[in-house]
Amino acid sequence: MRIRHKPWAKPEIAASPFCMDNAFALRGNWRQQFARPEQPFYVELGCGKGGWVSQAAASRPENNYLALDIKDEMLGMAKRKTEAKFREIGREPDNVRLSILNIERISEVLTPEDGVDRIYINFCNPWPKPSHKKRRLTHPRQLIQYQPILHGELHFKTDDDDLFHESLVYFKDCGWEILFQTEDLHADEPSDNIRTEHEQMFTEEGKKIKFLIAKPPVGEAVLPEQYAPKNHAEEQEEDGETLSE
Ligand SMILES: C[S@@+](CC[C@H](N)C(=O)[O-])C[C@H]1O[C@@H](n2cnc3c(N)ncnc32)[C@H](O)[C@@H]1O
Repeated sequence: MRIRHKPWAKPEIAASPFCMDNAFALRGNWRQQFARPEQPFYVELGCGKGGWVSQAAASRPENNYLALDIKDEMLGMAKRKTEAKFREIGREPDNVRLSILNIERISEVLTPEDGVDRIYINFCNPWPKPSHKKRRLTHPRQLIQYQPILHGELHFKTDDDDLFHESLVYFKDCGWEILFQTEDLHADEPSDNIRTEHEQMFTEEGKKIKFLIAKPPVGEAVLPEQYAPKNHAEEQEEDGETLSE
């Protein structure tokens, strides 16, 4: 998604007590960054403008939330939204942390010791071109990174049919168990569902929201052969295409 440059985002993130600008240095010590380290630890990947995490953290003080996004502009907006939400309820944001991260590097930032209880992937980019599918946050190259750090479930929502169906294949190929799936979450919307910005937008466009809950297998994470990186030159060429999109 193209987004207008926001010169205020970087300095605001740097000055915020709940935005962590040293994600790599906190590897293995994430729980200690929260007022109540013993609480369940939930991580949202690609949080965008922060609509979901701000509502979740404000309404569920019994959980700790870390929201990650690759873009300063997005994290800046998530920071402002979180501040506004907590100001509204008159509470300190002591159970939420935000950080800039390319999720492709998540295993450099979160470890099994961090004990992630749940991962949320809400409306990640669908990357429809075959050479770009490896960028999907549900691609097997990502799933094998989540497996060692995740103790509980992964919750995934999308409006995109192809991404949803192909993700079901990714999860199964990597040995994950699908605990629940629906192709129309709002047909019987759970009372605890928190709508994200994209969820609201796609719903207003008449698109059905697809949702699944998956659980990783126990044991060593192994990338199925069909998803293995190709040779270096081909990968670089594809990366070049991705960046110039
Ligand atoms: C389509 S938006 C969805 C935002 C929000 N989750 C929602 O549902 O409204 C996808 C978000 O994922 C972020 N993103 C895409 N690729 C990423 C990556 N590799 N690492 C971290 N964030 C990423 C984008 O910057 C963007 O904010």
